[in-house]
Amino acid sequence: MSILEAQNLFKTFHKPGSQAEGVAAIRGIDLAVNVGEFVAITGASGSGKSTLLHMLGGITRPSSGRVLLEGVDLAGLDDDALALVRRRRIGFVFQRYNLLPELSLLENVALPLVLDGTSERACEQAATAALEAVGMAHRAGHRPDALSGGEQQRGAIARALVTGPAIVLADEPTGALDSANAQRVIELLQRLVTDRGQTVVLVTHDAATAAAAGRTVRVRDGLIESDSHPVQGMPTTKALGS
Ligand SMILES: Nc1ncnc2c1ncn2[C@@H]1O[C@H](COP(=O)(O)OP(=O)(O)O)[C@@H](O)[C@H]1O
Ligand SMILES: [Mg+2]
Repeated sequence: MSILEAQNLFKTFHKPGSQAEGVAAIRGIDLAVNVGEFVAITGASGSGKSTLLHMLGGITRPSSGRVLLEGVDLAGLDDDALALVRRRRIGFVFQRYNLLPELSLLENVALPLVLDGTSERACEQAATAALEAVGMAHRAGHRPDALSGGEQQRGAIARALVTGPAIVLADEPTGALDSANAQRVIELLQRLVTDRGQTVVLVTHDAATAAAAGRTVRVRDGLIESDSHPVQGMPTTKALGS
């Protein structure tokens, strides 16, 4: 069953106030992701990987086309509703871990739940469980600057998992790590997929990292150039003739 679908997705960036044509970053992408898949989106720098991932995760609104997460059309949501879906159903992991320096690792991981008004006790329990899942429970009380890059990224992955999201989206999560730490982060993502059935979509320009995923989608100039294991999505509105 597909959990995430992009249908006929386009994104053009315009300079504010400019009459120029703009940058066509994504130029018509259809992509369906099944529950429990580990998908790598790969391609050269500037090919549109991050723009695509940000649209899949409701961070960037498409110029046209639809993104369906668990059957919900993200374009149909206002900003507040979209923020809720992002917080509750999507776990985002960035190249720079984006942990807040003044909070402990446990507090960082709990943050999405705290923002959601979850009770203190439930926040702590869920954050501890998420830290255990990434092998970082022993560092719960440390501030981010006391942790290595690899440890911070594992913490950021715990934060992405804490709400029990439908999907984890990761943009170059190993891009700032040395090869040993990169390998650990990739193995961790693999384990989340195989042991917990977590759906993961990862962006990387690195072929070795992409090879860790079960499926590789190659993007070039804003289009899908190849897909090792394409998934049949729902018929697009275009195909339905409306
Ligand atoms: N906010 C933006 N404003 C203008 N152009 C952008 C913006 N974000 C990305 N682009 C352009 O869109 C294209 C795709 O960028 P991006 O999705 O970041 O590629 P990748 O992640 O594959 O390196 C590039 O030409 C980039 O310069
Ligand atoms: Mg990018």
